[in-house]
Amino acid sequence: ATRTPLIAGNWKMNLDHLQAIAFVQKLSWSLGDAKHDFSQVEVSVFPPFTDLRSVQTLISADKLELGFGSQDISEHDSGAYTGEVSGAFLSRLDVQYAIVGHSERRQLHGETDAIVGAKSAAAVRHGIVPVICVGETAEDLEEHGPSAVPVAQLREILSHLKASDEIVVAYEPVWAIGSGQAATAEQAEQVAAALRAVIAEVLGDDRAAATRILYGGSVKSDNIARFMREPNVDGALVGGASLAIDEFSRIVQFK
Ligand code: G3H
Repeated sequence: ATRTPLIAGNWKMNLDHLQAIAFVQKLSWSLGDAKHDFSQVEVSVFPPFTDLRSVQTLISADKLELGFGSQDISEHDSGAYTGEVSGAFLSRLDVQYAIVGHSERRQLHGETDAIVGAKSAAAVRHGIVPVICVGETAEDLEEHGPSAVPVAQLREILSHLKASDEIVVAYEPVWAIGSGQAATAEQAEQVAAALRAVIAEVLGDDRAAATRILYGGSVKSDNIARFMREPNVDGALVGGASLAIDEFSRIVQFK
């Protein structure tokens, strides 16, 4: 299968809508100067909800090839869900992707695999590709080994989806997030291969072959190439390093 790599920048709760415009403009200049070929390596940013309208306006006005997505999505389409954001609203803003099940939402907001599955299905209903995050904590790793927890998480989440649903999966070991302690390329490959096998089991071989599996957790310009050489790793979900334009630009041009 030929899968176009995806480098995704998760801004988390950083940059307001004015800062977002300046940032996206500078990032696109930087990638333009580097003659980045977006057909070879897709690049997407994930700003806070309040920035999406500004980012959409800039990208469409300047015809930028940069993609963008949201950091979350409601499992519901409309109704009495104060504070939630519907996929219907996000798709009206041309949002292509929605991160679901990030470990920070699991830890701080009690999101379960059932909720993450429902959010993934909601994204798909609105033509948005869910970026499904799974990953084990340091304790999980000690107790169950590297793949068991992420594989179980993904199996439950995928039970909410159909073979025809386009998805992206992000393997993010919780111990590697924001710690400066990235997984080794071999660890990432081992889990990514196990995750691809689960996709094949639940959604079939075609979906497994087509799905991009990203690695996330302390990705930097000096380790990205190692991950990208692994056959089952198709990109990265970058947090901290996605907020520094030169560094993110170097990550995108990992070759
Ligand atoms: O979504 C991104 C991840 O949580 C990784 O964050 O690159 O700052 O370790 P990080």
